[in-house]
Amino acid sequence: MKPALRATARACANIALAKYWGKADVERNVPAVPSISLTLDGLVTETCVYFSESLDQDELILGGAPAPDPALRRASQMLERVRRIARLRAFARVESRNGFPTASGLASSASGFAALAAASCAAAGLTLELRKLSALARWSSASAARSIYGGFVELPRGRAGDDRVAAKPLFDRDYWDVRIVVAVATESPKAVGSTDGMEHSRKTSPFYDSWVASAPKIAARVRAGLRERDLELLGPAMEQSTLAFHACAMASAPATLYFAPVTLAVFERVRALRAGGTSVYATMDAGPHVKALCLAKDAPDVALALGAVPGVLRTIVAAPGPGVTVDLERSG
Ligand code: DP6
Repeated sequence: MKPALRATARACANIALAKYWGKADVERNVPAVPSISLTLDGLVTETCVYFSESLDQDELILGGAPAPDPALRRASQMLERVRRIARLRAFARVESRNGFPTASGLASSASGFAALAAASCAAAGLTLELRKLSALARWSSASAARSIYGGFVELPRGRAGDDRVAAKPLFDRDYWDVRIVVAVATESPKAVGSTDGMEHSRKTSPFYDSWVASAPKIAARVRAGLRERDLELLGPAMEQSTLAFHACAMASAPATLYFAPVTLAVFERVRALRAGGTSVYATMDAGPHVKALCLAKDAPDVALALGAVPGVLRTIVAAPGPGVTVDLERSG
């Protein structure tokens, strides 16, 4: 028998500057809109995988404890795909750990599924090119497709039936010295996850079609701002992308509302900083935390100002981060 391979992958979380919200194909998890993201340094998920004939089912350990069933099922779906590609029958043991608090509003599914895709492929003896690894991650979570790459990344929209949709790198992490300042608003997990939230928008929001129609134009402005390294061009487009998808979610029936009072208070503080001459813009995802984008030189002041907003628990400052990495060892 061949010695088993144990693979350990590290992938970073990412923040969308142009938002993904909506699926063109639910089964294949193909996004209905293009999204553009920044991979975040230091916010790492580390995942270790090995396949073994002696296991009688897949096992998933999250942060040291056996994972709840829905998480195990989602991981098993990806492992099943990897087994099919590698023509493998053995089950896998997966141990995954986030180097950041899961409830910090930093999508752990992005770094989690990017790391799981990379580690499970390597452990199965596959060497997939990054584009294919990104498409594999997309099946489980579209934002995870972006975390395969470092720096600034784009995930194009796709059509129903198109199962090759994958992210592509736009600019590497050294391209622009910006920072994301996360204003953590709560420690509890989000009430409605993004997968359910966006499906609910698609089915019930009267604004869904106009969001999908306008998102590519907004993403084009984000891309142009990135190309010019122009925060005054990128920032307003990023804020519009955020507020447009939230408007769509809010208008669903019943409403999906991710705003808390502290969310608006932080948006206000970001506007006040801008009025005072600091170039800083706000974005948020499927939770009440606000993430502010600014130049590295302004990050300490922005973190101080957002940290002082009543209701903000703490701030996290992240620089552009690297793509996924894998270490392989023989374990038998
Ligand atoms: C609001 O990638 O978590 O964070 O593909 O269903 O797993 P699934 O959704 P997910 O959605 C992220 C949505 C968002 C915006 C973004 O990151 O682009």
